[in-house]
Amino acid sequence: MYTPTSPWWKRTVFYQIYPRSFLDTNGDGIGDLQGIISKLDYLRDLGIGAIWLSPVYTSPNNDYGYDIADYYTINPEYGTLDDMKRLIREAKSRGIRIVMDVAMNHTSSQHKWFQASRDPSSPYRDFYIWKKPQKGLFGRELPPNNWTSVFSGSAWQKDEISGEYYLHLFTKEQPDLNYRNPRVLEEIEKVLNFWLDLGVAGFRCDVFNLLHKSTFRDGRFNFTGGGREYYSSVRGLNGIIKKLHADVFGPRHAFTVGETFGTPSARQAKKFTAGDEVDTIFTFDMNISGLTLEPGAKRLKRATLKWQHILDWNTIFIENHDQNRAVSIFGNDTLYRNESAKMLAVFVLTLRGTPFIYQGQEIGMTNVTYKHMEETKDPMVPMVYRMIRGFRLPRFVAEPIALFLGRDHARTPMQWTDEAHAGFSTTEPWLAENPNYTSINVAQNLRDETSIYHFYRRLIALRSRIPALVDGTIRFKRERSWVLHYTRYLGNKHYAVVMNLSAKPQKVRGKVRGEVVMTNYSRTELDGRLLLEPYEAIIYKK
Ligand code: NOJ
Ligand code: CA
Repeated sequence: MYTPTSPWWKRTVFYQIYPRSFLDTNGDGIGDLQGIISKLDYLRDLGIGAIWLSPVYTSPNNDYGYDIADYYTINPEYGTLDDMKRLIREAKSRGIRIVMDVAMNHTSSQHKWFQASRDPSSPYRDFYIWKKPQKGLFGRELPPNNWTSVFSGSAWQKDEISGEYYLHLFTKEQPDLNYRNPRVLEEIEKVLNFWLDLGVAGFRCDVFNLLHKSTFRDGRFNFTGGGREYYSSVRGLNGIIKKLHADVFGPRHAFTVGETFGTPSARQAKKFTAGDEVDTIFTFDMNISGLTLEPGAKRLKRATLKWQHILDWNTIFIENHDQNRAVSIFGNDTLYRNESAKMLAVFVLTLRGTPFIYQGQEIGMTNVTYKHMEETKDPMVPMVYRMIRGFRLPRFVAEPIALFLGRDHARTPMQWTDEAHAGFSTTEPWLAENPNYTSINVAQNLRDETSIYHFYRRLIALRSRIPALVDGTIRFKRERSWVLHYTRYLGNKHYAVVMNLSAKPQKVRGKVRGEVVMTNYSRTELDGRLLLEPYEAIIYKK
């Protein structure tokens, strides 16, 4: 009998909930905590063991919760602290842990620390990053340096009270905290302890690699912006994360996943996850929603081979609330939606690492066909639009790019049924539902044993039954560019996975033998040369 020694978060499959779009139970068009509680059985049946809950704290919603105005209270739109306690309890009784999302690089500009900080003589002044303007030509006033916001435009905003500028790496309603001030870290540690006391299992740390700014000089400037080399994964950051680990994460056994902005180097990634900072990270070099000429599936394969090699263990994910839907970008959301969504399920659940599934991925939800910016709510869309227009490009070029990069593709209401508003709400939802809910929805998936949902469910069960799929080492075969082929080894148990990342049949190199354990087509035995069907994925025992 094999006894796993790995920690719970290696054996668990995580499910990310974007609460605003999950399920509305009081008819205001906004998802809420009661909605999540009422779907815990659904999640347990799917087989997930932990929920990453996108922010539910009090927030003015300039960035839909990633602008926190009070870390200790729940946004009334979502419910109360009692609802939250109930969610933690009810989840626990079903064997599901809750991981909180903490945005600690910045707060909302409504946060009381920031409000106090606007007064230069306040003890909170130093909680944020205030700088004097620069003098430009002819005495013209310029921001303190050329850094740009991740969402485009200057990263500095002038405040009339003092005439100084504050730094915001995201929207101007998200001022960056100043981690050179030890009191900031102390306050954040209080927040983390508060939630751990309530029984959460850990944290997803929002853009944790931006907490330290090394200097405030002008940065190298390129198309994507300026200043990254002085604030993204810079020297000085590791000390901050190590302190969080020593004071909180370690002693309190909290699981952590740090979201990195951009792609850290291999060296930095190894340091982050060496055991004294965070357990795992999310990196984005498959540039999920990025504008690149390389086809999505090739990017996915390249990034996978790279990261499975660099880190012994990390997260495996292809979707979240900031990205295009995976089936639309790495698969095929028309002719082969069913096959490619299942192929992507095999990808996420059989590589070496902790799988994260995003709400709706388990039923193959797709991108939306947006025509006008007015149809979207994401604050990034108009910011990107303005930036592109700034290069004197016409609206008909700028608008589709901004809409493609926009994050609402992932944020449309969860599609529960084919009834009005996708069964998400009894009223007009805060963000319009994807019109394809009449055919793509949970109810339909539950009825059909061959659905994407049931495929996910069986695959998650398989992963928990076969230790090699969790703890097994991984070795990749050299394959043609559209084929991904690897084996998971544990003792004398060998399980291999082969998949076609394209809509055309693909030959697999050499001969393949084994007994099929699971597939999105209908093979049972492999014996010799293999020609994969479009998006075919096979798990077989050698
Ligand atoms: C990353 C989050 O995932 C995203 O939604 C947010 O806008 C930024 N961090 C800023 O908090
Ligand atoms: Ca509601």
